[in-house]
Amino acid sequence: MKVTVFGIGYVGLVQAAVLAEVGHDVVCVDVDQRKVDNLEKGEIPIYEPGLTPLVKSNFDAGHLKFTTDAKAGVEHGELIFIAVGTPPDEDGSADLKYVLAVAETVATYMNNHKIIINKSTVPVGTADKVRAKVNDTLESLDKSCGFDVVSNPEFLKEGAAVSDCMRPDRIILGTDSEHAEKKLRELYSPFNRNHDKVITMDIRSAELTKYAANCMLATKISFMNEIANLAERFGADIEHVRHGIGSDPRIGYQFIYPGCGYGGSCFPKDVQALVRSANAVGYTARILESVEAVNYDQKEKLFEYIMHHYNNDVKGKTVALWGLSFKPNTDDMREASSRVLMERLWEAGAIVQAYDPEAMEETQRLYGDREDLRLMGTKEATLNGADFMVICTEWQMFRAPDFELIKSKLTDPVVFDGRNLFEPKRMTEYGIEYYAIGRGLSVKGTQ
Ligand code: UDX
Repeated sequence: MKVTVFGIGYVGLVQAAVLAEVGHDVVCVDVDQRKVDNLEKGEIPIYEPGLTPLVKSNFDAGHLKFTTDAKAGVEHGELIFIAVGTPPDEDGSADLKYVLAVAETVATYMNNHKIIINKSTVPVGTADKVRAKVNDTLESLDKSCGFDVVSNPEFLKEGAAVSDCMRPDRIILGTDSEHAEKKLRELYSPFNRNHDKVITMDIRSAELTKYAANCMLATKISFMNEIANLAERFGADIEHVRHGIGSDPRIGYQFIYPGCGYGGSCFPKDVQALVRSANAVGYTARILESVEAVNYDQKEKLFEYIMHHYNNDVKGKTVALWGLSFKPNTDDMREASSRVLMERLWEAGAIVQAYDPEAMEETQRLYGDREDLRLMGTKEATLNGADFMVICTEWQMFRAPDFELIKSKLTDPVVFDGRNLFEPKRMTEYGIEYYAIGRGLSVKGTQ
């Protein structure tokens, strides 16, 4: 099928490459000429396992094209995806200017029936706004053309985006058009084998489904972080509690890992956006407000431990920091806990020696050259001349480090672990003082 994807960001690029891989003829449109040029040279703007070979092979085979020519893009696709960004505006609401600009562009150049598919995470009611924008534009141009608007939210996780897209848990189609449903079922049929993963519903329910999914997951995390904070005060160990409750299948083991807060491009933004949307319809989303507040505080947690340990004085101390990305297997630093920590440490006069397997370039881009940030070539190199160590991201390669080396290199052998990677008992055996999240027995004196 002929498909056009507007917006070659994270969601757009992965979706486009996966659709091309199963044989659809996909054109990607973006306003950024440099991005298009780089993609044509095989340079992928993001780190995502499996994405580079997928993009390259489909580009070489001619199934996947990149352009800034919006007219050609609109003319090409019978199905047109909107996968542009919806950044939060000042009050945290999702800003729809890019989505509506694409709607206007599609209306301007459309020459026959189009199915316009919202892939971006957008507030409930956006499909109606897209429809109105297309209608207004057609009217102003004195054109008449049939079209459908569909809500088809994505559920991919960074670091596993290609496999999530190839093997989706569910395919949500919010539509009021039989024609659109038929076409989308055909589009997704290569990903819809074994059992029917397509769930159809009205458009507004589909839009809300996306927010509800992300907000539910964020709620699980903040809930666990709250219980971890209680465990600390009660002298309990959250890791035992996690095992204990996860064994109940109604609760489950997933997304109940306590830590130094959730980050990324989705949870923080989507929780805030739903809180704002709720306010706009006269409802106070109390649970979601708390989810956000708990997460905000949780990102301060490591710094609090550090200040507690050093009696509020880390001026001139050198910190070995392991992990910068908001989670493993990505170079994404959006809303990462490491950023809150680094910024607090800098304000307090400390020097950060950091290592991350993928996010070093991004860190350099965000913070530039500064004397109190040293990006090191290996995790071991961060220990040179360091006073203490902190872990912000649970990369696999951090899970079994050389503890003797850590102990011998740090001037004060103490590790602040925001992801609970190690057993407190073993750390004691190594002679390393260990602060983790919600492991009250190991965290001395923070009650
Ligand atoms: C999320 C959703 O999982 C995905 O379905 C949606 O489409 C987009 O948002 P993503 O942001 O890529 O995906 O990352 P995810 O793996 O969900 O992790 C988000 C954050 O939560 C990370 O900072 C992670 O460290 C944190 N997290 C996750 C926890 O702190 N504890 C957990 O138990 C799970």
